[in-house]
Amino acid sequence: MGTKVTPYSNEASKKEQVAEMFDNIAHSYDFLNHFFSLGIDKLWRKKAINILKKENPGSILDVATGTGDFALQSIKNGLPLSGKITGLDISNGMLEVGRKKITKKNLSDRIDMVQGDSENMPFEDNTFDATMVAFGVRNFQNLKPGLQDMYRVIKPNALCVVLEFSKPKVFPIKQLFGFYFKKIMPFFGKLVSKDARAYTYLPESVDAFPEGEAFKGIMKECGYREIEQKMLFGGVASIYWGRK
Ligand SMILES: C[S@@+](CC[C@H](N)C(=O)[O-])C[C@H]1O[C@@H](n2cnc3c(N)ncnc32)[C@H](O)[C@@H]1O
Repeated sequence: MGTKVTPYSNEASKKEQVAEMFDNIAHSYDFLNHFFSLGIDKLWRKKAINILKKENPGSILDVATGTGDFALQSIKNGLPLSGKITGLDISNGMLEVGRKKITKKNLSDRIDMVQGDSENMPFEDNTFDATMVAFGVRNFQNLKPGLQDMYRVIKPNALCVVLEFSKPKVFPIKQLFGFYFKKIMPFFGKLVSKDARAYTYLPESVDAFPEGEAFKGIMKECGYREIEQKMLFGGVASIYWGRK
């Protein structure tokens, strides 16, 4: 899986550094996310939600929920129809922003926000009807234990859906996206978030992260079956899913 890319170059573990970074940028995360993607991230989340929708899950676990955008969009798109979504994240700063949004939208009875580590989640085995994670797995300190714990807490036959950046291969998306991701985003990201590293860590972490067959292979090693991938926008992002 290559070298471990961390946000800061200090002694703390990747987990601690990632939590610190997201605490630092929580106030500007939503704005920058939608600004940089021109809203395309919402479309991608919707595509991932549509894959889950076919399964009609009652309870959903949204891992690395951050400010809750994936969970909120899911409810907006009618998923689950009546059950609950549990959002889990390691950064309390991100969760706090999410909790405010959920209260404002009167959805506190539909979405629970829980602080915790994806590698050791505070849930019993076979609890949820489905699990999902958007732009989260790349930040895990250890990818495999994270995917394994998601496998552990879903019921047999339940689906795990992962939305994550991948690397576009085709001209000119590859070149244009590379310039945008490595030059434009770090410049404006630093300006707005005031965290000098957060938006240089982003392209570095995508570069170092397994994609395509490699990622599917890791899901398989974690126990998932019927694993599939759908590339988005020429491979800028991918949706992976697999069944327990
Ligand atoms: C880029 S944000 C994605 C947030 C949200 N899913 C979205 O689509 O906007 C990544 C999130 O992963 C969380 N995260 C990273 N490592 C984690 C871990 N080990 N356990 C739980 N959450 C983690 C971070 O705190 C951060 O909120």
